[in-house]
Amino acid sequence: MQTMVAMDVGKYSGKTLTEVITEASINKRIEELAAKISTDYQGKTPIIIGVLNGSVFFLSDLVRKLSIPCEIDFIKVSSYYGDTKSSGTVRLIKDVSCLINGKDIIIVEDIIDSGLTAKFLKHRFEQNEPASLEFVSLLTKPEVMSLNWSPKYVGFEMDSQFLVGYGLDIDQKLRNLPSIWALQD
Ligand code: IMP
Ligand code: MG
Repeated sequence: MQTMVAMDVGKYSGKTLTEVITEASINKRIEELAAKISTDYQGKTPIIIGVLNGSVFFLSDLVRKLSIPCEIDFIKVSSYYGDTKSSGTVRLIKDVSCLINGKDIIIVEDIIDSGLTAKFLKHRFEQNEPASLEFVSLLTKPEVMSLNWSPKYVGFEMDSQFLVGYGLDIDQKLRNLPSIWALQD
């Protein structure tokens, strides 16, 4: 099955795909993250906010493993980068519908790379005075170190390769691969 996916994808882009995180590893790590969040937020009802489009699978798997009540909402942003990945601008495409003030907010990202998107979201949500604000990212890349804070919950710390699958895309494709693959020339 995995070979078939890799061969199909190879034809699409002419690039090599190597599976780097299996479905089983993703599931296991999400169980651990959900257990930690459920403990940390005991007695609370956080609003779990997914950053579209990449976080949809991660969010849906994560919230179904929580043992605490929660609300779900979504925000969509798009990033334009200048000369470096950390110097760019982020534009709001779709805002959340919930009220943030006084609520416990957990923002769910597929990957934090330069941290530009996370920085924008943190600033934007903090302006609305939540009771608390934390990030959970399935993946981070080393460049996340350019943030002067770290996401509280991280699934896997990756090195600087381009990744696809389980929400991560190349030109909006391959998000629906059930595991995570590195794409190489
Ligand atoms: P940022 O650089 O932390 O602002 O990340 C911006 C966005 O870039 C992420 O939300 C992803 O959509 C995308 N991105 C970063 N690295 C990868 C990757 O390896 N594969 C696919 N998308 C990525
Ligand atoms: Mg994304």
